Amino acid sequence: MPENILIAIAWPYANAEIHVGNITGSHLPGDIVARFHRLKGDHVLMVSGTDSHGTPVTIAAEKEGVPVESVYKKYHKGFLELFQQAGITYDLFTSTHTQNHFKVSQSIFLALKKNGFLFTKVEPQWYSPSAGKFLPDRFVEGTCYICGYKEARSDQCDQCGNVLEAAKLITPRSKVDGSTPVLRDTEHFYIDLSKLEPDVKNFLRERSAHMRDTVLGESLGKIEAEGLKPRPITRDLDWGIPVPVEGWDGKCLYVWFEAVIGYLSAAIEWSQVSEGDWKDWWVNPAAKHYHFIGKDNIFFHTSLWPAQLMGVSDQFVEIFTGEKGVRLTLPYDVPANQFMNMEGQKISGSHHWGVWGLDFLSRYDPDALRYYLTVNMPENKDSDWDWSEFVTLNNNQLVATWGNLANRMLSFSYKTWEGHVPAIDPANLREADLALLATIEAGFESVGKELDSVHLRAALGEAMRLSTEVNRYIDANAPWTSIKTDREAAALTVYTALKAIDSLKVLFAPVLPFASEKLHVIFGYSNPLFGEQYVETIQDSLGEHTGLRYRAPEGQAPAWKPSDLQPGQALNQPLPLFKKLEEKVAIEERARLGN
Ligand code: MF3
Ligand code: ZN
Repeated sequence: MPENILIAIAWPYANAEIHVGNITGSHLPGDIVARFHRLKGDHVLMVSGTDSHGTPVTIAAEKEGVPVESVYKKYHKGFLELFQQAGITYDLFTSTHTQNHFKVSQSIFLALKKNGFLFTKVEPQWYSPSAGKFLPDRFVEGTCYICGYKEARSDQCDQCGNVLEAAKLITPRSKVDGSTPVLRDTEHFYIDLSKLEPDVKNFLRERSAHMRDTVLGESLGKIEAEGLKPRPITRDLDWGIPVPVEGWDGKCLYVWFEAVIGYLSAAIEWSQVSEGDWKDWWVNPAAKHYHFIGKDNIFFHTSLWPAQLMGVSDQFVEIFTGEKGVRLTLPYDVPANQFMNMEGQKISGSHHWGVWGLDFLSRYDPDALRYYLTVNMPENKDSDWDWSEFVTLNNNQLVATWGNLANRMLSFSYKTWEGHVPAIDPANLREADLALLATIEAGFESVGKELDSVHLRAALGEAMRLSTEVNRYIDANAPWTSIKTDREAAALTVYTALKAIDSLKVLFAPVLPFASEKLHVIFGYSNPLFGEQYVETIQDSLGEHTGLRYRAPEGQAPAWKPSDLQPGQALNQPLPLFKKLEEKVAIEERARLGN
């Protein structure tokens, strides 16, 4: 039975370009899992969008001296470009600055209010006398009152990862002009997370068997130790979603409160522009939601978002569909990743210390990126991008172990059997041939199991191990030697190897979609493995925005299964799949860091 899988990926802030740490942290793992489930024949909906509100984007606009709207549009455009080039196949990558998202977010807010989970309170917040305005969240930096880190932002500390209470920050300073802010009273809505604490704990406990320990520690572990406290969910800001209550002009919904709602609103928007129905993923207890995020996002996805969903109860579905007593689906897994560093240091935009996606792809291929970022994915601990290692792994594994295997067998067959797979009789296959094919076929189970449980490094390692087996088999049977004396034996070897490669092509496809699609064509198949990405312009009352879309191939049967390569099948001209890189690449690239 096909499953309904929601691949929900963290919404990037529209204040910076996307770097390799962001790609390996959320977009790439989400895409790999989405592609795997699509190949299996599951119904996948993969959504995200540009997080266009809040202080990160407002501060970027102030720094660049341009309107916030143009900053958000500039970065959004770059995101769409990157995802197309890197093959990150969103069914819809939209933005939080859409009429639909405003409406869905305000409805969630009102449903929580109606259900008694919101209250208002007047509390002191940081205010800048010189600027004459409140300074929420990232507008204030200072020393973390938990770990002592000096560059903590008033809403969150990057060193200890804690979500902070702004007014407790030590030695605060304004991000705008460095002045010292003062505390001034202001009224805000709060979500009463303490009321929802038992539900959140149960929710997490029910999932503890399959959630990563790192994620459970940061969520359930923390809640058990400290409890959940009410959190303010409105801000004194004018760029954002207006609070849908009379008399609250000039205040907006807190960026995190509304951004997480994007997973739902994007599905609804996708329904409006496609044939699909958001309810198949969102009003369906059997649907599985996976949230691909970085470790700094854990609280918002394991506690705040589930609390919002549970607090809304059946109200949202009732408003949107008229159906009573039906609830929205809760997250199934939150496979948050740790961080990737760059050559031993933290990636930093302001220090130009990093590798940015679009810049990388102007010099190298997307599969080379996807390969290295999967091998090095920070699944359980921080990892490090190392340029020498990138070159070595590209050359020794991607090119030598997998690429050359496929290329050398296809070229040999193409040349020797005049553009065809050898036309052998499968009844003649020898014991060693059948043993190899059985080993590779088992990969659909073993690689699939790892992908299904979001162990992507292990999945790729297993596929690589299987290609080593095929290399070993070919070396043992040396068809280029046997062809001179025993053409039938050589034909059996080449057929067997090609059939194994045809299967490996599928096993590698979620990680290396470009190479697998090329191989698929060389093997002579006419139906592609994957669909196409395209940009669509969507109009609404806030103006127009662009969305990245994905069109699945027409009428495709599930491809996640062993090859049934036909003897004598016509091939297309083989081409190399990957490029070998020169050692000096590492030196050249290191020279770019910090400049
Ligand atoms: N914009 C946030 C970040 O870059 C992530 C938001 S994820 C969402 O850290 F769920 F809230 F959308
Ligand atoms: Zn801290």
